[in-house]
Amino acid sequence: MSLDAVLSRIDANLPDATERLFELLRIPSISTDPDYKDACDTAADWLVADLQSLGVTASKRQTPGHPMVVGHFDGPKGSDAPHLLFYGHYDVQPVDPLDLWDRDPFDPQIEETANGPVIRARGSSDDKGQLMTFIEACRAWIAVNGTLPCAITFFFEGEEESGSPSLVPFLEASRDELRADVALICDTGLFDSRAPAIVTRLRGLLGEELTITGASKDLHSGMFGGPAINPIRVLSRIIAGLHDDTGRVTVPHFYDGVPEVAADIMAQWQGLGFDHQSFLGDVGLSTPAGEQDRTPLEMIWSRPTCEVNGISGGYTGKGFKTVLPSQASAKISFRLVGTQDPLAIRENFRALVRSQLPPDCTVTFSGHGASAASTMATDHPAFEAARTALSEEWPDPAAYVGAGGSIPVAGHFKGILGMDAMLIGFGRDDDQIHSPNEKYDMESFHKGIRSWARILDALA
Ligand code: BES
Ligand code: ZN
Repeated sequence: MSLDAVLSRIDANLPDATERLFELLRIPSISTDPDYKDACDTAADWLVADLQSLGVTASKRQTPGHPMVVGHFDGPKGSDAPHLLFYGHYDVQPVDPLDLWDRDPFDPQIEETANGPVIRARGSSDDKGQLMTFIEACRAWIAVNGTLPCAITFFFEGEEESGSPSLVPFLEASRDELRADVALICDTGLFDSRAPAIVTRLRGLLGEELTITGASKDLHSGMFGGPAINPIRVLSRIIAGLHDDTGRVTVPHFYDGVPEVAADIMAQWQGLGFDHQSFLGDVGLSTPAGEQDRTPLEMIWSRPTCEVNGISGGYTGKGFKTVLPSQASAKISFRLVGTQDPLAIRENFRALVRSQLPPDCTVTFSGHGASAASTMATDHPAFEAARTALSEEWPDPAAYVGAGGSIPVAGHFKGILGMDAMLIGFGRDDDQIHSPNEKYDMESFHKGIRSWARILDALA
C-alpha cells in the first residue's frame, strides 16, 4: 500500500472534499436548540450516506436525544493491524448573536485572509471540518488501495455541544460493538500554526444554572426600592464571592482532588515556549486573570476554574425602566481537573449559595451536564507512532499538550470501553469556535486529511 499515492490523491481531490464539507456545513445541526432537531437528524443521515459511499456499513442509531452514527469497515484479511475507533461530533453550537456574523453561518464560503484561505461557517472547526479530515483520509486510502489499512469503526455523536446526555447509556449498551484497540478523537487543536499536538489531558465540566426570586412580581423601584429585596443585588454578591482576591474559587472543598503537575511534565510544558502575551494579545488582553500564583499555561491546562457564562434579570431592553425585578439568574460553569468530583462540587456550590440567601429570597437550580476531567496515558505504542507521523506532515514536531476544553467522550472511552484515546485535531486558537465568524483554515483541512493518512499508515 502506497502512502505517497494516497497523499497525492488527497491533494488532487481537495476541491471535491471541500464541497462535501460544505454540504455538511449547510445543515444547521444545533443540538441545544429543540427547533433544530430535524437538522440534527438530517446531519446524521448525511454522514450515514457519506460513509456508505465509501463502502462502510453505516447506520443511524436513535437515542432519547439526537441520533448517533456508527459505521464499520473490515480491514485487510489476516492483518494484525490494530482496530481503530474514530470519534467526531456533527452537532454545533448556537449561532447567536447573529448580528455579529459577517455572513450566514450556514452558508459556508472560502474567504481569503492575511493568514491564507479559511472556510467560514458554524461548525467548520468544531467539529464538522475536523471529522471530515478523517473521512476524507479514508476516502483517499480506499480509492488508491481498494481498502483501509486496518479495521475502523466510525462513531459520530450529535449531542457533544449539549453535554452528551445520551452518551453513557449508548456506550454501555454498545460495548461489544464499539470496542477497538485504540480510539482516535478529532475535536482539538494544533499547538500553534507550525506544530501539531496530541492532547493528553482535558478538563471536566460542571454546568449550573440558578434563579433567585424575591418579591412575587416585578415592582416599581421608587415605590418599593429600599424595603424590597433586589434579587439582582443578591445574585451579584454571591457571584462576586465565588473567587477570592488571589483568584481561587471559594466553594468549600473545591480543590479536593486537584493534583500538582509532575515535575517532568511541567518541564516539558515549559519547553514548548507558550507565548501567553500573544495568546492574550490576539484577543485584546494583556494580563492573566486566573490564580495569581500560576502560569497562564497551568491556568488553562491543569487548574480548575469557575466562570459565569451568562447573567440575566430586570430590564435589559432599549432605553431605561425603573424596575425592581422579582428574579435574577445566572449560568455558571466549572472546569475540573484531576479527580475533582463534579457531583460533590454541585452539592457544595448549591449549599454555599443557599447559605448566603437573605430573608424573603428563594433559589432554584438546574444542572447542565457533569463530566470529570480525563488524563490519557501515553504509553500505548500508538502515541509515539502518531507523533512521528504528525511530525512528518507539519513544519515543527508534534507535542504532547493539555487542553482547557472538555470532551466528555474521552474519559468514557477509557472508563466504559477500556480503550486509550488519542486526541488529535487541527483547530487553531483563532478559529472562534462557539463564537460568531467561526472558521477553519484551509491548511488545517488539507494538512489534517494528510495527517490522518500518515497516521493510518503508521498505526497499521
Ligand atoms: N472541541 C471542543 C472542546 C475543545 C475546545 C477542546 C478547545 C480543546 C480546545 C468541544 O466541542 C466543546 O466545545 N466542548 C464543550 C463541552 C460542553 C458543551 C459539554 C466545552 O468544552 O465547552
Ligand atoms: Zn464545541
